[in-house]
Amino acid sequence: MSTVFLRTLVCLLLLLFHLKLAASSGGNDSFTFNGFGRLNLTFDGVANVTSDGLLKLTNMSKQSKGHAFYPTPLRFRNLTNGTIFSFSTTFVFGFISAYTNVSGNGMTFFVSPTEDFSAALGSQFLGLFNQSSDGNSNNHVLAIEIDTNYNPDVLDIDDNHVGIDINGVISNASHAAGYYANDNGSFTYLSLRSEKAMQVWIDYDGHEMLLNVTMAPIRMAKPHKPLLSATIDLSSVLLSDPMYVGFSSSTGSFKTSHYVLGWSFRMNGIAEPLDYSLLPSLPRAKSNDKDRIAMVIVSPMLSEPAFQLTSESSKDIGIGKKSGRWTIHVRAISNVFCEFSWC
Ligand SMILES: *[C@@H]1O[C@H](CO)[C@@H](O)[C@H](O)[C@H]1NC(C)=O
Ligand SMILES: *[C@@H]1O[C@H](CO)[C@@H](O)[C@H](O)[C@H]1NC(C)=O
Ligand SMILES: *[C@@H]1O[C@H](CO)[C@@H](O)[C@H](O)[C@H]1NC(C)=O
Ligand SMILES: *[C@@H]1O[C@H](CO)[C@@H](O)[C@H](O)[C@H]1NC(C)=O
Ligand SMILES: *[C@@H]1O[C@H](CO)[C@@H](O)[C@H](O)[C@H]1NC(C)=O
Ligand SMILES: *[C@@H]1O[C@H](CO)[C@@H](O)[C@H](O)[C@H]1NC(C)=O
Ligand SMILES: *[C@@H]1O[C@H](CO)[C@@H](O)[C@H](O)[C@H]1NC(C)=O
Ligand SMILES: *[C@@H]1O[C@H](CO)[C@@H](O)[C@H](O)[C@H]1NC(C)=O
Ligand SMILES: *[C@@H]1O[C@H](CO)[C@@H](O)[C@H](O)[C@H]1NC(C)=O
Ligand SMILES: *[C@@H]1O[C@H](CO)[C@@H](O)[C@H](O)[C@H]1NC(C)=O
Ligand SMILES: *[C@@H]1O[C@H](CO)[C@@H](O)[C@H](O)[C@H]1NC(C)=O
Repeated sequence: MSTVFLRTLVCLLLLLFHLKLAASSGGNDSFTFNGFGRLNLTFDGVANVTSDGLLKLTNMSKQSKGHAFYPTPLRFRNLTNGTIFSFSTTFVFGFISAYTNVSGNGMTFFVSPTEDFSAALGSQFLGLFNQSSDGNSNNHVLAIEIDTNYNPDVLDIDDNHVGIDINGVISNASHAAGYYANDNGSFTYLSLRSEKAMQVWIDYDGHEMLLNVTMAPIRMAKPHKPLLSATIDLSSVLLSDPMYVGFSSSTGSFKTSHYVLGWSFRMNGIAEPLDYSLLPSLPRAKSNDKDRIAMVIVSPMLSEPAFQLTSESSKDIGIGKKSGRWTIHVRAISNVFCEFSWC
């Protein structure tokens, strides 16, 4: 036998062995966190775990971003034939704001090829993208956004929605937050600013290429009908292998803390249900601590705001759309509400 032949044989065997090892290390990843320990996740930005086990993605500071990742990247592809695996995940979350009825900007669950979001922006970019990277198909990011701000520039539908984002914050599908009743199908709206804990389920069927997002108040059984159900071929999105899974969050003008109480994930199976009795509680913000905000209802006839906000304290002014009405929020300075008018 020639040495060339032997060498080739050894190389081939090594390659096969390597492929077998790599293939067997994917497809069955799963984890469950009923509350978090400091070493369970890796953090970036202002994100951290509190002493009672809450994942705190943002911390009441403005213009901030935070990320938390499962420390090991996961394989989303069957190496034998390239198909994207089915997966499912569920988490309980809640937002606490320094203001009454205003918060921002929101959070996402995401799958990403990178842990490096240093170039990403907060506010409407949710800590995942910036003006130039937003929408770029080379991002290879899937995100489910939970958004409490109406940003017309990124085509948000309202200031209280859930969306499926592929490579950018202009959602491929979105819906007002809430759920459909199992018996009669009626829709119940959920306020993301209610400061109550809620649960989201994200289920992807790799064969059907169907992505479902379902939500409900905490402790309610998962509603049968998803809030969002979209046919999405993730084969060109989840291109890198392995990929990181985690949460991102951002604030803009409004001091808000975005929390995750528990999280479970399973590749090729149904995520283990969370044990509500083990979850930490969402902190309660005392209502008399709330910063005062003036709310002004603008004519619903306007399709766009007919004015520009150019105040020195523009960071303290926000604009949003609620039930089809434009709303301006102005932070009160020294307890004096700003007065303004326009025609
Ligand atoms: C996942 O698969 C690997 C390789 O087949 C195996 O060693 C491991 O025990 C499996 N893990 C679970 C949780 O089933
Ligand atoms: C990957 O695909 C191959 C070929 O269809 C199949 O035999 C195998 O079970 C799949 N592996 C996983 C982890 O789904
Ligand atoms: C999370 O960390 C805690 C310790 O802080 C540990 O007991 C627990 O097993 C970890 N959970 C997982 C799913 O790794
Ligand atoms: C938020 O966290 C950052 C970084 O850990 C810190 O500098 C900042 O003071 C915190 N803000 C508040 C309001 O706690
Ligand atoms: C996270 O919290 C721990 C204490 O709970 C603290 O020691 C650590 O510095 C914090 N990390 C960041 C980045 O703020
Ligand atoms: C790959 O294998 C999986 C699991 O066996 C199967 O469901 C899927 O249809 C296969 N995809 C292709 C493109 O053959
Ligand atoms: C907050 O919003 C809820 C629901 O829209 C409303 O009932 C309540 O009066 C609002 N509270 C304040 C202080 O504006
Ligand atoms: C936007 O983000 C990308 C990485 O995704 C980075 O390469 C680029 O420099 C950033 N652009 C700006 C203007 O910050
Ligand atoms: C998502 O929407 C963008 C346009 O906003 C489109 O280019 C892309 O093909 C869509 N992706 C999927 C997977 O539907
Ligand atoms: C649907 O059922 C819910 C209770 O499950 C009830 O509150 C609601 O009024 C019903 N709506 C209609 C349209 O029947
Ligand atoms: C998604 O929702 C549809 C409609 O309810 C359902 O038929 C399908 O089985 C669901 N798929 C997953 C993966 O949850």
